Amino acid sequence: MKLILALSEAFSRWGTLALRAALLFFLCCLVPVPLLGQLSTLDHLAEPGFWPTQPGASRGEYVGSDACAPCHAAKVASQKNTPMAQNAMHAKDSEILHSHPELRFAVGPYHYEIKTDAKHSVYTVGNGTRTLTANLLWAFGIGRAGQSYLFKKDDGKFYEARVTYFDTLKTIGFTPARALTSPKDIEEAMLRPVGSAEIAQCFGCHTTASTVGGHFDEEKLMPGVTCEACHGVGAKHVASAQSLLLAGMTDEPGAIFNPAQLNPADSVDFCGACHSTWWDVKLSAVKGVSTARSQPYRLEGSKCWGKGDARLTCFACHDPHKPLQTDASAYDGVCSSCHIRTGEKKTVNHPAEPCPANTKDCVSCHMEKVYVPEMHYKFTDHRIRIVHPNEAFPE
Ligand code: HEC
Ligand code: HEC
Ligand code: HEC
Ligand code: HEC
Ligand code: HEC
Ligand code: HEC
Ligand code: HEC
Repeated sequence: MKLILALSEAFSRWGTLALRAALLFFLCCLVPVPLLGQLSTLDHLAEPGFWPTQPGASRGEYVGSDACAPCHAAKVASQKNTPMAQNAMHAKDSEILHSHPELRFAVGPYHYEIKTDAKHSVYTVGNGTRTLTANLLWAFGIGRAGQSYLFKKDDGKFYEARVTYFDTLKTIGFTPARALTSPKDIEEAMLRPVGSAEIAQCFGCHTTASTVGGHFDEEKLMPGVTCEACHGVGAKHVASAQSLLLAGMTDEPGAIFNPAQLNPADSVDFCGACHSTWWDVKLSAVKGVSTARSQPYRLEGSKCWGKGDARLTCFACHDPHKPLQTDASAYDGVCSSCHIRTGEKKTVNHPAEPCPANTKDCVSCHMEKVYVPEMHYKFTDHRIRIVHPNEAFPE
């Protein structure tokens, strides 16, 4: 989240095209040529055609995942169980809040508390003399690393709670990048106002169909990253597939976006629309271990990536329709699609060296888990490499 927010800040800072072009040119002189193939998310969004997080034209063009089920049953069933699909919810539906009915955190004079009963989650901040409360409205994050909360005040505007639930801590702590050592008042200690542009961005990455026809619509959005967040609106495809089915025809139904058609660099940028692309990170102020949260950035810094290769895209390793594979051996096939084993001869299709150390569970040694302090969590560094003991985090 810190990364993402720094990115949006960076975008507004480098808001004018001229400035961004100048920076881009400057950076181009510094980076190896292969990376010139990639773009920032803003640049992709400016191109014609579908791209994730793009606002929709009308709500009626969205059909929802259940409408895909009659024909793509397996994908619909498994995608529902992914963290991507489940990552945003109304606070009243948060399992984390229900299984931790009293969460507490204290810093200096300030005491933070989130109390959850069957109907509400009440967020309270007190400093001994004053107490402020609010009903939490939205919860973001499945809680693998953490879960953050949004609420509204009587003014109808959105605010982010100053505290976030962290799974490693099993309690609340400062929201990443939002820690305050000396807030100016209890209000600032409690919350951070989130303007309407930023709210649209949060929901754009965490939900489906949140901004449609130029308006952010909290009532009609679909929580989570669902089919149409990655494939674009589905109404036309469903209608044409249904009529073909009724007519007993086996022709290809009307178009819907299939990311499989993208070249390797674009396909990594595609996931980077939310996970942030190489350029998104470069254009932001984020550096050091925090960049481990941008898998596209780290992956494309790997020697393995070369000029970009279909064998090493995000979906070569991750089926976006299924939950994350946590068994290291599941990724071995991807490594051995390029790397030979000791004793084997290199070929055009298998151009890469064998490992002198081991023959399996490659990612367990070559994709290090790095601790990101503000997240209280270890992320998987997607920069594939020989990890040397006690080395500095390679930028
Ligand atoms: C009435 C049946 C039907 C429904 C409903 C349906 N599809 Fe399809 N879809 C098909 C058929 C048939 C194909 C072509 C064969 C294939 O790839 O399975 C297809 C292909 C696709 C493709 C690949 C397109 C390509 O050009 O390679 C995607 C992506 C897709 N569907 C997504 C969806 C999504 C998302 C939904 C729900 C919004 C949906 N489909 C609903 C029948 C359907
Ligand atoms: C519309 C935004 C969006 C797009 C596009 C997107 N993601 Fe995600 N993804 C998310 C969010 C939000 C989460 C965080 C879920 C959480 O941890 O709460 C996530 C989490 C994940 C996870 C972690 C799952 C886990 O077990 O914690 C993987 C793996 C992943 N995405 C892969 C991909 C791949 C591969 C692509 C491209 C095909 C992609 N994502 C495209 C928004 C997106
Ligand atoms: C550009 C897309 C994007 C925007 C904007 C965005 N997020 Fe996220 N967010 C993600 C992705 C992708 C992940 C999962 C991967 C990760 O952990 O970095 C994530 C993860 C999270 C998590 C889970 C913790 C974690 O890092 O796994 C929380 C909580 C969260 N976001 C809250 C927010 C809030 C609140 C906002 C707005 C103030 C916001 N996000 C804006 C894409 C976005
Ligand atoms: C996070 C992004 C993401 C989400 C969410 C997502 N897909 Fe996909 N989908 C992809 C990508 C990437 C591909 C191409 C690579 C692949 O086949 O895995 C794809 C391919 C497909 C295909 C074509 C498969 C083939 O064999 O050609 C179908 C059909 C499809 N998706 C349906 C769905 C349906 C239905 C949903 C919702 C239940 C959904 N997708 C949700 C990213 C996504
Ligand atoms: C070579 C295989 C490989 C590729 C390519 C790959 N990943 Fe991963 N990814 C992994 C492994 C291994 C994990 C850790 C799984 C576990 O937790 O055991 C992981 C974990 C993740 C997570 C969970 C958060 C974390 O840091 O552990 C996200 C999100 C993710 N990947 C997104 C992506 C995206 C986006 C891309 C494309 C830029 C991508 N991955 C490309 C292997 C890969
Ligand atoms: C697309 C082909 C491809 C894939 C897939 C691939 N690699 Fe590589 N990898 C290479 C190439 C080519 C090199 C040599 C690059 C060079 O030396 O310039 C390399 C280099 C390496 C190195 C040495 C890096 C260093 O720091 O010197 C390691 C370690 C490595 N790969 C491990 C892996 C692992 C583990 C996987 C699977 C998670 C994997 N590779 C997947 C092509 C690939
Ligand atoms: C137990 C940890 C471990 C596992 C598992 C492991 N490696 Fe390695 N690998 C290493 C170490 C350590 C080195 C550095 C050895 C050296 O420099 O003498 C290395 C070196 C490499 C190199 C560089 C070779 C060169 O000559 O430049 C490649 C490529 C590589 N590994 C690929 C892989 C692949 C592919 C797998 C899975 C089949 C794998 N590794 C599994 C620890 C491991």
